[in-house]
Amino acid sequence: MKRRDKESLEFDELASYNVNRKDIQWFPGHMMKTLRIMEKEVKNVDVVIILLDARIPYSSMNPEIEKRIGNKPRIYIMNKRDLADPRITDKWIQYFKKKGMGAIAIDSKNGRNTKLIQNRISRELSDLMRRRQSRGIENMTVKAMMVGIPNVGKSTFINSLAGTQRAKAQDRPGVTRGKQWVTVGNLDLLDMPGVLWPKFENQNIASNLAFIGSIKDDVLDIETLAVSLIDEIKKIYPELLKERYKLSEDDLEADNYDILCNICRKRGMLLPGGVENTERCAIMLCDEFRASKMGRISLERPEDYE
Ligand code: G4P
Repeated sequence: MKRRDKESLEFDELASYNVNRKDIQWFPGHMMKTLRIMEKEVKNVDVVIILLDARIPYSSMNPEIEKRIGNKPRIYIMNKRDLADPRITDKWIQYFKKKGMGAIAIDSKNGRNTKLIQNRISRELSDLMRRRQSRGIENMTVKAMMVGIPNVGKSTFINSLAGTQRAKAQDRPGVTRGKQWVTVGNLDLLDMPGVLWPKFENQNIASNLAFIGSIKDDVLDIETLAVSLIDEIKKIYPELLKERYKLSEDDLEADNYDILCNICRKRGMLLPGGVENTERCAIMLCDEFRASKMGRISLERPEDYE
């Protein structure tokens, strides 16, 4: 996208440009297939473990998955808590509790959550386990289906539970990976490939999913995405943006695209002739956000969804 085109668009239009174009395909055919398999398999499990991203718990809740799991007991696990603002994550836990849903927040990468998760599953399924015991059923294996959006950390989560590299963790959202069963202690886990949904309820959700990398970057315009990200962080964590990129209060007053150009100059990302290399800078900015280089950022607050 050329600079002049960008300047003629307002932020909302920029965001729409990103994900509402007909030629952008963030919902490939295999995702629809996965949703169908989920609908079938949910009948065979005791509980569904729904992995959310702690930075965007609302946007990472897939309505198509919710629809398909019906009344099955479910556990919400907010993964990547190490990347999210801890104050906001605590508020999200309260939010879920108030809605009678219950959730926990974990960091799968450090792999010390096994007991917490097993206790949560036992609590969720206590009635079922009691019923099984009273009927003399010896086999107390719990069957769980694990679902979530691409890149939410399902493979890492399973590896941390299993204490070994069972499934290959990869940062390639949308890559087809068939369903597979993994046994961890008395838990039989059905790992499903990550899925999105065909129509986003609003533009914020689409942008949030793109910011964290669940929509593949190569179907988006990376500069537009970075400009949207600057807009968002400027609103909710201006100090972090200023600190990371050595920006002044006045710098933040500028148009978001100009802020991107400013960051380019500060990082020496220039093309021959001194023109800002905005594409390279945009990739760097998105990568740094995803790796939490600016600090721990939560893009959604529960009070906006009360
Ligand atoms: P998926 O199966 O749901 O697609 O996700 P996957 O486990 O492949 O994880 C996607 C990326 O998220 C990986 O990063 C992984 O390390 C990271 N990740 C997963 N859980 C957590 C967490 O709780 N905290 C943090 N900070 N990161 C997490 P990657 O860059 O692709 O791989 P790597 O270089 O870290 O190995």
